[in-house]
Amino acid sequence: MLDVKDLVSRETGLVSRQIFVDQEVYEMELERIFARSWLFLAHETQLPNPGDFVAAYMGEDPVLVVRDSRGKINAFLNTCRHRGMRVCRADAGNAAAFTCTYHGWTYGNDGKLVGVPGYKEYYYEELDMEQWGLVPVAQVDSYAGMIFGTFDSSAPPLLEYLGDMAYYLDFLVHRRPEGSEVVGGVNKWIMPCNWKFAADNFAGDGYHVPITHISATKMGFTSNRISVQQRTRGLHVSPQGGHGVITRPGFNPDATWPVDEWPQINEYYHQTLVGEMEQHLGPRTHLIEPIVGTCFPNLSFEFFTMRVWHPRGPQKTEVWSWCFVDKAAPEHLKREMQLFHSRRFGPGGAFEQDDGENWNQCTYASNGRISRRQEFNYSMGLGHERYDENVPGLTCESPSEVRQRNLYSRWAELMAAESWDDIRTSGSAGR
Ligand code: FES
Ligand SMILES: [Fe+2]
Repeated sequence: MLDVKDLVSRETGLVSRQIFVDQEVYEMELERIFARSWLFLAHETQLPNPGDFVAAYMGEDPVLVVRDSRGKINAFLNTCRHRGMRVCRADAGNAAAFTCTYHGWTYGNDGKLVGVPGYKEYYYEELDMEQWGLVPVAQVDSYAGMIFGTFDSSAPPLLEYLGDMAYYLDFLVHRRPEGSEVVGGVNKWIMPCNWKFAADNFAGDGYHVPITHISATKMGFTSNRISVQQRTRGLHVSPQGGHGVITRPGFNPDATWPVDEWPQINEYYHQTLVGEMEQHLGPRTHLIEPIVGTCFPNLSFEFFTMRVWHPRGPQKTEVWSWCFVDKAAPEHLKREMQLFHSRRFGPGGAFEQDDGENWNQCTYASNGRISRRQEFNYSMGLGHERYDENVPGLTCESPSEVRQRNLYSRWAELMAAESWDDIRTSGSAGR
């Protein structure tokens, strides 16, 4: 078994490039990261009615998320127990049951096997149908409408797993009492890069913005007024547990935000949202504003977008991206927000293109026999992080790679541990 302890150092901030390109590391990640962690599956607004379903992935495993006829949300491996056919090949829909198109085994929307062709004549009624339902995801739970699942029955409860990250997620999905909703479908695309480059960038890389995105900024895809100072002012927060958030100072009624090129959205933020957030989220509204982040391991968010970085090999990532808006926002503004999202972070979005190119080239240029022996430097701000009494998590006042150090430390901890019990014993299950 691969020994990962030499690959990541929290003390020095050095991380081996091997973890971004190596097949053996990748295989172990599927077991120890993706088969253990709470992974984002869908949003409840995608499943408003009994029988509604959406397809999802957990690592490389296809999953079906279904609201059963009694209204409960379940998740199952999307593979027939008979010979493995994908039971449902639609992305989304409504069904009372799923009939496998290979030999016709049929599963109820609660996952139970309810029909087998030839049950009497070919199986002599000896097949124990109770035992051959769809394989359930071990734990399914939701936070503020966001549905998560884990294949590990011993994983800590979702709220404990999210830890301090829940405080920051509220700004995104629960800043109005009605919560948020998904608009439009899921954008999906493949990138030739390791999934961690993307997770790491969203977790805490504000450093790249003025350089990587300069042309998009000059073209007017975001406010020219978002200067380096604005990008870097405020606290940089690492909520532990591998999660990371890039923040700005809290909502300021005089600020032009999100961008001055979208006056209707600005107006909504400042005339509707701020007041309501004060009521709903309390004083934190003016303390800090999360703008980009990653929920460990592979769920990231930015204004109006959530995305999951599905691993597809050490050097391939499949992105699933959703547009999220406040449920109570006026309909015409939801459309504006969708446009805002897709021009910046849709598959052809200006910022998305910039970011993807970096991650692809970082992967490509780390793959050689000599390059993979080198290390990445995550030492920025090392030793300057501290606990701030006002907000949860480790913070740093200047740009820092504290969040990436935290992400890779968590990654290494999970990779090295035999089980969640090991991590509990070391006292860091929710950290
Ligand atoms: S593979 Fe599904 S019924 Fe045979
Ligand atoms: Fe970026």
